Amino acid sequence: MQTIHTVAALRAALKNQASIAFVPTMGNLHAGHIHLVEIARQHAECVVVSIFVNPLQFGPNEDLASYPRTLKADREKLETAGTDIVFAPNTGEMYPETQTMTITPPPIASELCGASRPGHFAGVATIVMKLFNIVFFNGSARQVAVFGKKDFQQLFIIKELVKQFNLPIEIIAGETVREADGLAMSSRNGYLSAQERASATQLNSALQSIVDAIKSGNKSFPALETTAIQQLCEAGWQVDYIAVRSAKTLLIPKENERDLVVLAAAKIGTTRLIDNLTITI
Ligand code: PAF
Repeated sequence: MQTIHTVAALRAALKNQASIAFVPTMGNLHAGHIHLVEIARQHAECVVVSIFVNPLQFGPNEDLASYPRTLKADREKLETAGTDIVFAPNTGEMYPETQTMTITPPPIASELCGASRPGHFAGVATIVMKLFNIVFFNGSARQVAVFGKKDFQQLFIIKELVKQFNLPIEIIAGETVREADGLAMSSRNGYLSAQERASATQLNSALQSIVDAIKSGNKSFPALETTAIQQLCEAGWQVDYIAVRSAKTLLIPKENERDLVVLAAAKIGTTRLIDNLTITI
């Protein structure tokens, strides 16, 4: 496995690759990321993983400075998982000058996570476009990128990016990997105190209760959302949103919508966690 820090060196290493599978990450890797690397491994000869904490997608009061940077441990995990190339640029390499041109994501990017994180998805779409242009520069026959379903809204926006800009890249979605008690794996779980960690599973339970209610025929989505929000608030959470949406459009479901996703973002203590569950009715 090679670790590469510059765009020029990465392009030189990828010049003659016939098939590339790419997993973009911000590092501090856990089993969820490794699952994405394993999927990538099945789709191409060369697996590239990027590790870059992207300043453009963090708001002014968010955790950019404290976001865990654990390159040495990440490299070990990636080597074991069969990665060929780790691309770990610094901020100056990715943004040699102020990024005055950015991607404007679709209107849905202002809802759900976007409502409390203005500019977040523009930052994500912009860095993903840059990374795609760096990694998939040689027009190799097979170009695949793997993203996790835990970031369901991000995955949706990246699929739109690829579709609307005609990028010759196949996006593959990896399932959310969970701890034994149901908590979705996340780099931010490391911020939780022991007490918060014990309560953190309540977020997944809230989503599961909504899924169970929908499965048993309840279609009063706003009422289900309100009840779940109240229960989490009573348990000490600050809830950004709990929303039942169309899994295909992320909009409020139409009358006969069958593919749904229940999404949530909430803070326990100072840690903001997200999760979602899909359901077909
Ligand atoms: O999901 C992430 O880790 C990030 O948003 C991504 C896609 C690597 C872009 O910085």
